[in-house]
Formats: sequence, structure tokens, C-alpha cells
Amino acid sequence: MKLTMIGTGYVGLVSGVCFAELGNEVICVDAAAHKIDMLNAGEVPIYEPGLKELIASNRAKEQLSFTTDLNEAVGYADIIFIAVGTPSLPNGEANLSYIEQAAADIARAMNGHKIIVTKSTVPVGTNEMIRDLISRNTSHSFAVASVPEFLREGTAVQDTLAPDRVVIGTEDGETLRTLVELHKRLTHHIITTDIRSAEMIKYASNAFLATKISFINEIANICEKVGADVTRVAEGMGYDRRIGSAFLKAGIGYGGSCFPKDTEALIQIAGHVDYEFKLLKSVVEVNNDQRFNVIRKLKEALGPLEGRNIAVWGLAFKPDTDDVRDAPAMDIIQSLLAQGAHVRAYDPIAQANFRRELDHPSITWAEDAWEAAQDSEAVCLLTEWSEFRLVDLNELAAVMKDHVLIDGRNVFGPEQVLLSPFRYYSVGRPDLTHLEQRIAVRNG
Ligand code: UDX
Repeated sequence: MKLTMIGTGYVGLVSGVCFAELGNEVICVDAAAHKIDMLNAGEVPIYEPGLKELIASNRAKEQLSFTTDLNEAVGYADIIFIAVGTPSLPNGEANLSYIEQAAADIARAMNGHKIIVTKSTVPVGTNEMIRDLISRNTSHSFAVASVPEFLREGTAVQDTLAPDRVVIGTEDGETLRTLVELHKRLTHHIITTDIRSAEMIKYASNAFLATKISFINEIANICEKVGADVTRVAEGMGYDRRIGSAFLKAGIGYGGSCFPKDTEALIQIAGHVDYEFKLLKSVVEVNNDQRFNVIRKLKEALGPLEGRNIAVWGLAFKPDTDDVRDAPAMDIIQSLLAQGAHVRAYDPIAQANFRRELDHPSITWAEDAWEAAQDSEAVCLLTEWSEFRLVDLNELAAVMKDHVLIDGRNVFGPEQVLLSPFRYYSVGRPDLTHLEQRIAVRNG
């Protein structure tokens, strides 16, 4: 099939490339000329494992091309995907201006019947708005559909080529048949539904996953006080198939481009129909608070933070991405700076992106984890990059001035910690900083 993807952000670029990989002919279009220039030069504007290779091979087969010319791109294809951003407005609502612009541009460029598919996460009713907007501006026939995207950063290619399910929302039978045909090689689980339910499935899924994370984080906070181990609690819960083991990793809370934005948006969507989504409001509140536990633990270990040297390991909102949007590290470092600490920051991939968002004379940008730890009094591990797991804690202690380790992602095991001089703070695991507890753990 001939497809056009409007928007070369995470969703648009990865989806476009994967559709090409499945044998379709795909044009990706974006108004940002610098992105298109990069892509045409074989560069990839985002860090995503496996993506660069797929782009190269599909461009070589002439299955995939990039342009800024929307007229050409719309004229070329039978199916047009809208995959532009829906960032948050200051009140938490989704900003639909890019969606409206894309719909207006499509209407102007149409040269025959088109299927217009929204992949962006949009509030319930948006696809109907798109339909109205386009029909006011074209005489050509068209159908709309909502096919929300569930890919995760870092595993985006794999998630797109082998998704758990594909959701197709449309009221048009012929469109449904075409879209099922397009997606059937990806999965047996194709859920066909009406447009409004498809739009809601995306928000409900992200809100539920965010709820699991805030839930386990609160359980972790209680575990710290009662002396239980949240990793064992989560394991014990996860074997119950009704609960499932995924998304029960306690830590410093969720960040990224989706969960914070989509939870706020769903609270607003509910508010517009006079429904207060109390549970989700609490999920957001818990998440906003969870990251500051790092600061609380640092103060417990070191006292006032003024003049302290604090190493921060990991700036991305999660490993295997260079994305720092809504990263817990942003709030944590800002709080450290506000309290007069000196920060020694390191991330293997996301450092440049982070520095563009937040730079300060009291931040030293380190070349590696060791340089960050040098002469510092504490290391705060905020992103579980795999290279941190390999660090020998005794060697680490040797380069530091004091020995506090705040493990925001439960990367280190008790056995590593017990054999080191660190005062170690995990998330929701037994306190190993006191000798008697150390001995109890050591004795099994
Ligand atoms: C998410 C959804 O998973 C995806 O379906 C949707 O399309 C976009 O939003 P993404 O933001 O890329 O994807 O990352 P994800 O792997 O879901 O992690 C989100 C955040 O939750 C990260 O900050 C991660 O550290 C945190 N997280 C995840 C936890 O704290 N604990 C967990 O158990 C899982």
C-alpha cells in the first residue's frame, strides 16, 4: 500500500519506517526542514536502537522517503497517517493545534479518496473534529479512523513490529477492511471498535500503567517503614495473572513524553464532562512527590546539602533513550541546585539534551560515571543504564569523598552493598545502612 506519515517524531518516524519494512511504500513528511535534511542524509534525529539500520535499508529499497512537501505526500498515498505531537497546554489539556493544522493541510492537498488515520494521542471526539474540519475544506470523499500507538521509547521498533495488540476505530466498513489488511501481519490481536472507544483505549491504557507505577511506589514507601522488600512484594503480586508482573518496578516515578502528559489530559477530559477522576489525580500527585524522596534521603544521610558535591548518574527518563522530557532528574537537580549543592552529572546518551534544557554554573558535566563520582559525597542513581550495574562499589567508594549511595532504581543487590562501605538507600527495600540489619541480611 502507499502510505503517508505526517510528523517524524517518535510515533511517526518509527511507524513509517516499520510500515516500509513490511513492504509498503511510505513517505514521511515534516514541516521541520532540519529533521528532513538529517533523515535524507542518513542521520536519525532521535536515539532509538535499530532504527537507523531500518531507515537505511528501506531507503535503499526505495520503500521509504522523506520530504517537507505535504502536497506531494498527500497526493501520493491512499492512506494518510497523522502522527503529530499533542503537547500539554498549561492547564494539562492536550494542545490540538498541530492536529488541526495537519487536517487543514490534508484537506487542501487532497486529490482523490483518502483514508485519514490518527495515530497521535487525542482526546475523545477529536477524530470527529478532524472529519468536520476536512469536510468543510474539500470536495473529495474520505474516511477517518483512530489507530492509537502504544510503542515505548527504547523498544519502539520491536513494539511496532510485534505489538501486543492493534486497535482500529472507525465507523466505515471499507476503511476497516483496508486497515485490518494493513496491520494483520503485525498481530492476531486486532481490536476493531468505534472511534471514540479507540481514542479512550489509549488514554485508559497509559493511565492504568501510570497507576500501577504509583501504586507500587506507595507500597515501596510503606515497605521502607515496615521493613519489607518491595521487589519481593512485587514478585509475589505479579505471579497472580490478574495483576501481572509488568510495571511494578518501584523507583523515583515515571517521566517521559506520554505518561505525565496523558494522565493530565485524561483528568481534563473527565473534568469537561463534570467527572472528577480522583484516582488518577492521586496517581499524578504520588508521582510528583516520589522523585523528591531522593532529596529527603540525601538530607537524612548528609544533613544540609549546601556546598555538598553530589554525583547524579542518569538524566534520561529511562534507559536506552536520549529523551529527557519530564525526566525525574530535571526536578531533582533543580532542587539540589536550589539548596546550594554542586552537581556532577553524567548520562551515557542524554547528557547533551539535558544540558540544553538545564545548565548552571554549579553543574559539572562528567565524561563518565567515574568522573561524576570523583570527590563527591553521594551518588544518586536516577536512570538504570546497564553500565551502572557493572560498577564495583568498593572501587567506586575509593574515588569518593564520602560514601552515600541513593539507588533510585534498585539497581544494586544487598550482596554488593553489604561488602562495600556505602550508606545505601534503595526504594522500598530493607534499610542496609545500619549494622544490625546488615548482619541480619547477611545471615539470610
Ligand atoms: C509509554 C507507554 O509504555 C507506551 O505504551 C506509550 O505509547 C507511551 O508511553 P514510554 O514513555 O516510552 O512508553 O516508556 P515506558 O517504558 O512505558 O516507561 C515510562 C516511565 O515509567 C519511565 O519513566 C519508567 O522509568 C517508568 N516505569 C516503568 C517505572 O517507574 N516502573 C515500571 O515498572 C515501569
